[in-house]
This record gives sequence, structure tokens and C-alpha cells, in this order.
Amino acid sequence: MDKLFFDTDTPIADLDRVDGKAKVTGAAKYSAEYDLQGLTYGVLVGSTTTKGTIAAIDTKTAERAPGVLAVITHLNAQKIPGYDEGKNPAKGQTGGKGLRIFNDNIIHFNGQPIALVIADTFERATYAASLIKAQYNKDEQHTSLSEAMKTGNPLEGDRYKENIRGEKDAWKSAAVKVEATYTMPIQVHNPMELHATTVRWDADDKVTVWEKTQGVKSTQQSIMQAFGLEEKGVQVNAQFVGGGFGSALRTWPHAIAAVMGAKKVGRPLKLVLTRPQMFMMVGYRPEAVQKIAIGANSDGKLVGMMHEANAITSTYESFNEGVVGMTRQLYACPNVTTKYNIYPLDVSTPTWMRGPGEATGSFPLECALDELAYALNIDPIELRKRNYAETDPENGKPYSSKFLKEAYELGADKFGWKDRTPQPKMMKEGEWQVGYGMSTGIFGAFRGEAKLAAKLLADGTLVMQSAVSDSGPGTATAMVKIASDAMGLPTGKVRFELGDSSFPPGPTQGGSSTTATLGAAVSGACVTLKKKLAEAAKSSSVFGADVSMESLNFIKGEVLLKSDDSKHLSYVDVLKAANLPAIEITEASGRNPEMQNYSAYSYSVHFVKVLVHPLTGVVRIARVVTAADAGTIVSEKTAASQMKGGVVGGIGGALMEEGVIDHRYGRWVNNNFADYHVPVHADVPDVEAYFVNKPDPVLNPVGSKGMGEIALIGFAAAVANAVYHATGKRIRELPITPDKVLG
Ligand code: MOS
Repeated sequence: MDKLFFDTDTPIADLDRVDGKAKVTGAAKYSAEYDLQGLTYGVLVGSTTTKGTIAAIDTKTAERAPGVLAVITHLNAQKIPGYDEGKNPAKGQTGGKGLRIFNDNIIHFNGQPIALVIADTFERATYAASLIKAQYNKDEQHTSLSEAMKTGNPLEGDRYKENIRGEKDAWKSAAVKVEATYTMPIQVHNPMELHATTVRWDADDKVTVWEKTQGVKSTQQSIMQAFGLEEKGVQVNAQFVGGGFGSALRTWPHAIAAVMGAKKVGRPLKLVLTRPQMFMMVGYRPEAVQKIAIGANSDGKLVGMMHEANAITSTYESFNEGVVGMTRQLYACPNVTTKYNIYPLDVSTPTWMRGPGEATGSFPLECALDELAYALNIDPIELRKRNYAETDPENGKPYSSKFLKEAYELGADKFGWKDRTPQPKMMKEGEWQVGYGMSTGIFGAFRGEAKLAAKLLADGTLVMQSAVSDSGPGTATAMVKIASDAMGLPTGKVRFELGDSSFPPGPTQGGSSTTATLGAAVSGACVTLKKKLAEAAKSSSVFGADVSMESLNFIKGEVLLKSDDSKHLSYVDVLKAANLPAIEITEASGRNPEMQNYSAYSYSVHFVKVLVHPLTGVVRIARVVTAADAGTIVSEKTAASQMKGGVVGGIGGALMEEGVIDHRYGRWVNNNFADYHVPVHADVPDVEAYFVNKPDPVLNPVGSKGMGEIALIGFAAAVANAVYHATGKRIRELPITPDKVLG
């Protein structure tokens, strides 16, 4: 085998992904890959105007085109009951009404779906879609944030009020100050798998949907509410999801259109967004302009901070995220003033994208800390340690666990931070300027509710089921690992089934909380199963009637008496002895009420080495070390992959990704992979991920915290700081492209 691709000498220390083989061999089926009997194909037509109303729409030519079965527009669309009852699934958790697809003739953004063409092949549907002609009454559109900040008004309300801790302007009177404005463009999720919905109506009141979703239960709820169906009338499947960084957290209008379309033609229907449609129909990270100011004493102690974030939302929904939260949380600073403004523009609604809020807010904060470190002539890590928050600076609560100091040390040691020459522009490799930079990431550690079915079968296999989906982190693998450890079963004897809304309800995969939430249910289920096994073991002559879970060890599929391990019996034989075909349980797990006394966060520290070419301005990421406090690491290999994936996304955000809208027309300029750049293999060095790996004793019984978001949060700042160290130039505008390095 070619060693370039299969480095078989590297030992695999940990459990491989349980679904890895299915994914790489193509056996795994994704939402667009169900070839149902009589399948039809839906293609959406987008508005070519940005703001206004549809005056007329001509669908005749398209309807007469070969293979076309139906064209749906606002003129003939079925009324969606949920739209009228205010249960619009498009509403998500934002203010406003959400986009009610084909409900009226109002155009809110360029590319908004105005028609769904359904045909017997994808090609015919695509061709017919090109024949739809619409006329518009156009209004003047506004899509520029910088323009809105000059002439427009941000939304008002409690969450947008100035939030002052201590004294408002304390930073201004400090001995040493930094103050600057940072900008960040729109970033787009762009998972490999396009958003896709396949729908089959099984009866008037029953529909089956294969959907790219991070939450099969939440999608089920959305479709139930939209179409007025019962829970048993909506089956949602998402066995495999080809990446999702937040874009699959909501049920978007195109999915509603697909369900509508399948009903209209009375046949199954598949609707796959095109890559250009992925830029405007499934959310994005909002553009942001942020001002930050920090004042410190000459010993590095922070005196005061000010952080004002300005970001965009759509005119029909107010999407909010915690952009300034990290500034209030990360450092022990008595005086902090934050303000968050969002401006409604004629764009589609943004949504959560990996590290939502903090990924944006960490860029100015962690760059400003670096700038302050130079101004004070203190090492950037030392500066952070001098302002270490031992308790939550917002409310004084203790942390459920915090090993950020350990993460600083672990990362610095592995990276070789001590080899860094403190002054900028001092390090070189050949003709390249070398820079070292670091930053911190932080994200709340959450745990929600989950239910789980667990069956220990007669052959000693454990099968677990929960209605969750795995958008990439390796959820089934982590759950198999937890259960295998807890039950004393080889991993090959444990199966975790997901992606099916008829399973007991699991959480939506978001906010880095799946392992903490579902892992707790798995851990609880294993305790229940062990109790039941001990109970069943009483029927065997090997053990006495007073045997209990506490008096037994559970190792390699056997129960062994702790006091005399010559007395042992396999799980298979325990079941036989008790005449049980299987042990079946349902386990529920919720929040730990004790958590109200604590603050809970995960932490990451990113170390980056860049090479900057002085003639071309090219920035290369030469090395990355990421160290994290994410609690107990359940599955080392998938955890490391999760961190590495975050770094890849971080490299994109730091150096390449920039969504461009032409404000003259309100239209996307680069909604394709030729013009919107994401990192490729050549852009990504070997990424090293390390974990403090100490349990959080409060959040959940597994001791894990989250890591999906911290993998990315702060990364752009580490790159910008490294570029400064290499060149002496502060670039405060993402992405850091050669023109900015040279300019
Ligand atoms: Mo993540 S933004 O919670 O998918």
C-alpha cells in the first residue's frame, strides 16, 4: 500500500470511528442518496432582485417543458398551517417571522426562492427552472454593514443595551492602553455535503423525510408544526450527515418546500441545494465590525475593557449571538463595558456557525491582548496568567472545572514557545519571516436532556439507540467508547444507532454539548444495566442470592465476584441462567441541578507558527499546536480529529474565507468554490492536538465538557498575532490576504 496515503507504521492508539469504513467506502447513505420508487426532483428558482415584490411570474414555458410535473410559486402554493399559527419552523430561535416560503410575493433578499420546479429528472427540472421569468417591483436595497453603521439604526431592546460591569470608561485612565477596530467578513459553513431533503408521503397524515440535519427530533417538530401533523405522522431520518457547522441546526424553508412539493405531485421528491444556494439559503456567520479598547497597569493587570460589536441580520429575523460575551468572561477585569448592535439588512438570515459569537468576538479580544503584551513588554501567556479569572468575573461563581492554566502550559511546552524571540521581525527561515502567535478560546459547557434505549442481547451484544444525528464529531464512536468502558465489553460488542426520529429523543447536535448530554445518558444506562445483570446473576448457582452490582466486577463481558474472582460468569450465561432473552431499558438524563451554583466553560489555547514571504505577502501556516481543557477525553482519536477540523476551519477564516456581496445590487459575488476559498490540504500543516484531560466533576458523570466550538474559537487571532510577530504589522481585517500583508 502506498505509504504516502496509508502510514501503517503509526500506531493507532485509540478506537477508530465506528462508522469510518462505511463513510470512506461509500456504503454510508446521505439524505440525497435514497433512490425511492418514482422519485421526482425539485429545483428552486431564486429571485434576481434583492428587495421588493414579485409583480408577475411566468411559469407557462417551464410547465410545458419535457418531464415537468409541477411548478410551485406563491400563486399556487398550498397554505402552510404553521405559517398562520405563528409556528413557522423557519422562525428558529430568533425574533421576527422567518421566511415563509411561497407564502406571499415579498422579496427580502437576492436569491430568495420564488419557485420550485418539479420534474422526473434532475436535469429536466434544472432546465425548466431556467425558463421561469419573473418581473419585480424593486425597492432600494441595503446590504452594506459599514453603510448601515453610518446611516442606519441598529435594533433596539434589552439584549442590545450597553452592559456595564464596574466603571464604564475605566480603561481610558489606565497607564497603558490599546484601542482598535477589527473587521470580519461573512463566512459560510460550506460542509462537503450539500443540504438535501428527500421526502415521501406515506399517507395524508404521514410523511417520511431524509434530511441533512443536526437534530432529527427538532426537524420532526418543525415539520409537524408546519404541516399540522402528529408526532407519529413525521418520520425523520439522518443516519449520516456530511458535515454541519451550524447550518443544519434549523429546518430551512427549502425543506418545507420539498415536503410541499412531494405532496403536490403525489410522488417522492428530492431537493438538493446547489453550492451557490448554500451561500444564501442556510445561514452564514454574520459580518462584524468590532471596536475594542483595553487599559492596563504597567504590571499587566487589566484596569478596564470596552468591546462594541456591530453585526448584520436580515430584515425579517433578528439573529443574535454572544459576540461580546467572551470579553466579559475570560479575564479578571473589574471594569468591562460591552455593547452589541445588529443591523437589519436586505440579506438572508445568518445563523450559528462553529463557535457562534465567540469565534467573532475572540478575534479583537485576543489580538488586543497580544498588542497589550507588546506595549507592556510582557510575554503574551504571562499577561493572560496575570489576569486569570479564578472565579466567574460576571457573578463570582466558582467554575465547575477550569484547567486553562494547565492548557497554556501544555500547549506552550509542546509548541516550544520558549524558543520565540519576543521582538517582532527577528526570526527567519531562509527568505521567509517567521512568526509565533497564540490565543485563547472559550465556550460555555452545556448539558441538556437525552433519552436512550439500551438492550443487552442474548449474544452479549449491547445495542443503544437515541434520536440524535452526528454531523461529524463521531458521536456513535464516543458513545460506544463510554459504554464499552462502563460495561466491560469489547468495543466490537457495542453498537450505537442514531439518526432516526422514532428512537428515544436525543439532543440536537449543537453548542458542543452532545457528548456531555448523551454521554451522561449512556453512562446512566450502563449503571442500570449492571444493576439488572447483578439481579439476573442471582439466578445462577455461581453466585449467592445476596450478589449485587457493588459486589461484582464487570470485565470483558463477564461478571466476577470481587471477593473471589474464580466465581465468574459471562453476560450471555447470566441471561441464560435468568432465562432472559435480553435486558432492555430506557434511560433518561437531564441537567445536574447543582450546576446552578457553578459556571462551566471549555477552554482552548492555540499556538501557530507562520511563515510570511516578504516579497509576495503569502502567509503559510507552518505549525499548529492546540491544547484544550475539554474535561475528560472520551475518545482520543475522534477528539483530536475534532480539534484538527476546527483548526482547518480556523485557517480558512484567518487567511481565505470572505463572502462578498455587491452592494450595488445586493447580490452575491463569490457564491462558489472557485471564488470563495477554503483551505485545501496544501494549506494545512500537521496539526497537533493535546488535552489536559481532567474530569469536570459537576457537569456530567462522564466528566466531559464540549470541544466543537473551542476548536475554532480564537484561532484567527493566533494567526494575526503570529503575522504581527513575523512582520511587525497588525492586520485587523480578516481574511489576512497578501495584499494586506504588503499594503
Ligand atoms: Mo454548532 S454552531 O452549535 O453547530
